[in-house]
Amino acid sequence: MTFDIKKIREDFPVLSEWTYLDNAFVGLMPSQVREGYSEWADEWYNYSLLPGETILGKWMRKARSVREQVASLIGVDSEEIAYTMCTGSGQNIVLNSFDWEKGDNIVFPEWEHNPPVSYDTEKHGVESRVLYQKGGRFDLSSLEKLVDDKTKLVSVTDVSYVNGFNMNLKGVTEIAHEHGAKVLVDSTQTVGALKVDYHNIDVDYVSFAPYKFMMGPPGLAFLYVSNDNLESINPDRVGWKNAIWNRDRRSKDASKLEYGTIHFQGVYAMEKALNYIEKVGMDTIDYRVKKLSGYLYDKLSELGIEIFTPERGTSPVVSYMEDNAFEIAKKLMTQKIKVTGRREHRNHIRASVHFYNTEDDIERLISTIN
Ligand SMILES: Cc1ncc(COP(=O)(O)O)c(C=O)c1O
Repeated sequence: MTFDIKKIREDFPVLSEWTYLDNAFVGLMPSQVREGYSEWADEWYNYSLLPGETILGKWMRKARSVREQVASLIGVDSEEIAYTMCTGSGQNIVLNSFDWEKGDNIVFPEWEHNPPVSYDTEKHGVESRVLYQKGGRFDLSSLEKLVDDKTKLVSVTDVSYVNGFNMNLKGVTEIAHEHGAKVLVDSTQTVGALKVDYHNIDVDYVSFAPYKFMMGPPGLAFLYVSNDNLESINPDRVGWKNAIWNRDRRSKDASKLEYGTIHFQGVYAMEKALNYIEKVGMDTIDYRVKKLSGYLYDKLSELGIEIFTPERGTSPVVSYMEDNAFEIAKKLMTQKIKVTGRREHRNHIRASVHFYNTEDDIERLISTIN
């Protein structure tokens, strides 16, 4: 497909009114995805079924094909993907699948959106080892000092929601695996924005929600469990769908982690979002996201603003220091510019681009804050 930005922006009517640079908070919905929600509602409302067909059967068929699309997007097999409800639900499934014992430890960075500490890990006296940031980065040399043979899990975020730091997952995985520890990744700020290939990186589990860069629904999310870990991961909740009581019907793939009825309306919307991503192409999206965030990084540098993001053009997020970040983000909204202003992790503004943004969007932010 030739990339026609004018045409693409027409699919996102909001962009004619807003300078939208807040994709790390919530992504925008193109008209095609809206049609996906309607398609599901119309299908149910009209109840046009063939003899022998059921509405639930139709929804489940759609879920199977969407699962294949998701797997292909992140470079894995569809048998390795489970539907969940949110990033946290996938992370909890993984966390609950370990036999925690006193003396074990879990290693995770200080800025995790969903820190992997549970009542169960606390009950068993599992030690939390926190990887602290230095200059907005998480160094592998510091990680190496925390991981040992008692580490059962290293849980990291791929792209930081705070400052867009892009974790070296291959490096993390090498360190963890050397000690027999598993790696769980939160990729909610990555999938749909950057090209990923989790087979190649060899991580064990990846949990991600689609309502940011995948332009998909809230209330639906995905958990990748690598083939090597499928047998050992036990569902931490049960229901009609995983049929644990019936040994003959037990599924061996990641769908065994799904226990009940999922957010099917979201599945229909998800299909349209994935079709959109496939049409534009992950290479193009990755290229544009890095180019635009690099452009914003340069423009902020030219103004002499202290940038919180440690590397140029490696993720969709560019954060910069601003004393009154929350108030300024609110004021920018009166001018129809949307970013996130946060008081946490030092006052900062977080701007985050997607493929539908342009250099003009960035110029508009820059000229307004200058
Ligand atoms: C890195 C990251 N993980 C997870 C989430 C959301 O978590 P959940 O899907 O569990 O609500 C966010 C939301 O901003 C996020 O930035």
